[in-house]
Amino acid sequence: MENLEILYSSQKIQERLEQLANQLDEDYKGKTITVLCVMRGACFFAVELTLKMKTDIRYEFIEISSYGNNTSSSGSVTLRTNIRDSIKGKDVLIVEDIVDTGRSMTYLLEHLKQYEPNSIKICVLADKKERREFEVPIDYVAFDIPNRFVVGFGFDAGEKYRNLPYIAALKED
Ligand code: IMP
Ligand code: MG
Repeated sequence: MENLEILYSSQKIQERLEQLANQLDEDYKGKTITVLCVMRGACFFAVELTLKMKTDIRYEFIEISSYGNNTSSSGSVTLRTNIRDSIKGKDVLIVEDIVDTGRSMTYLLEHLKQYEPNSIKICVLADKKERREFEVPIDYVAFDIPNRFVVGFGFDAGEKYRNLPYIAALKED
């Protein structure tokens, strides 16, 4: 597609996820992880990552949205769909597509506190550090990405491009 510049090929993503999966298996040895997948963008990442893992995993899903236009998030985050089962005493691994300003993750961490999990760690596909406004304690990062709007492998622009098997930057013109 002519308006896209591929940043991470499908192969590169799979290789990096393999490394991350091994690291997570090592770090959570003997435990059961509650993977909390943040809809919708992170579903692709969560599936592909955890299919490479050997650790016992339970899945939870949550949907939050930060309203704004297509290529930048706005100031307000809302909860759209909450978790289903109790995470009290569980070891929760938040799996998210990206930390950009950090606003969404800050909201999510604050929201989850009331459910008293045993631990919370954060695993993201992409870290757009340059844009950070709210400091977020990220534990696992697949890719540090430049300050560009990306699509593919779960990332969308107005719901388009999510199913591309690679991560690409939208060319500005
Ligand atoms: P936040 O600014 O860290 O709260 O990120 C808010 C949300 O904006 C993320 O969860 C993504 O859904 C979206 N977002 C931020 N940067 C990008 C991007 O480059 N491509 C697609 N979505 C993005
Ligand atoms: Mg998101």
